[in-house]
Amino acid sequence: MSLKFTPTAPSQLSPSGILDLSPEAGDLIADGLAGLQRSTKTLPSKYFYDKRGSELFETITTLPEYYVTRTELDIMAESASEMGALLGEHGLLIEFGSGSGQKTRELLSALPEPAGCILIDISKSALSGSIEKLEEAFPSLPIFGVCADYTRSLQLPEVGTNAKRRIAYFPGSTLGNFSNHEARVFLQRTAALLGPGGALLLGVDRVKAVGLLERAYDDARGVTAAFNFNLLTQLNANGANFVLDRFRHSAVFNAAESRVEMHLVSQVEQTVELGSATIRFDAGESIRTEMSHKYTLEAIRELAGSADMTLEHHWSDKQDWFSVCYLSCR
Ligand code: TRP
Repeated sequence: MSLKFTPTAPSQLSPSGILDLSPEAGDLIADGLAGLQRSTKTLPSKYFYDKRGSELFETITTLPEYYVTRTELDIMAESASEMGALLGEHGLLIEFGSGSGQKTRELLSALPEPAGCILIDISKSALSGSIEKLEEAFPSLPIFGVCADYTRSLQLPEVGTNAKRRIAYFPGSTLGNFSNHEARVFLQRTAALLGPGGALLLGVDRVKAVGLLERAYDDARGVTAAFNFNLLTQLNANGANFVLDRFRHSAVFNAAESRVEMHLVSQVEQTVELGSATIRFDAGESIRTEMSHKYTLEAIRELAGSADMTLEHHWSDKQDWFSVCYLSCR
């Protein structure tokens, strides 16, 4: 199969073409510096997913402590046919961030006569991989790729299917990695993209016992720690001089914000050179590298409402650890 990478934005896109709207490659050092010079130090989580980070993340999804992926997959396997029946015929499926694609294949198999599928991902290689796998599984389905940062405002190409409605799919509780403000903006943009009659299938991780939450982000084998440290390794590859064993991985549930936060905690008072700047750390001072919000159904209902969407239905596992929510556009 040959993939076309289109540099500009034509309105008409043929199946299996990839529309390239990818932003300039981020400047790791400049972005890193901006975060580290704030009074509460942060590093941008978008840099987690380089080649090594993506591999580590794939391993995280199989860890015994990381219930998230397993639980969501079980819900999809169990309830996809009900989702398909509710979503109805001739839907155009729009998926944000493709991951391994297994959940999307599950959903597509259950959609009655889907009109087509548009995958949106920032990684061109992930995108072509997912398209290839989907084409193998659904040879007669029109499949399109858009390489773009879906956290920014986005216009879909005209794909020329006679879809009855647009259905967005945002699995993995990736919404939880946004700040609350970003989550609202994302939902509002998605509602605009879907239009009246549109629907969003949203995977969200639920509030649960703190121990379970914290272990999911701090596993016994140390894979999540390695994933976290990979940010420092990447900065070092770009000229920084972090001494990795002067930092410690930590995952804590911030109850007031209802989120697990990942941190890298400085073990000693130290300085680190980055670009042309020197960053000072107190002993015990931490860098926040990621947040993963955990939701109650009330919180989802409220978030949906802020984007003029209604929580119509949700499918959850027996323990209510994870929910796949059906949000309709008003
Ligand atoms: N959305 C997932 C989650 O919050 C994925 C994720 C983002 C993640 N950063 C992570 C998982 C760090 C483990 C560690 O769970």
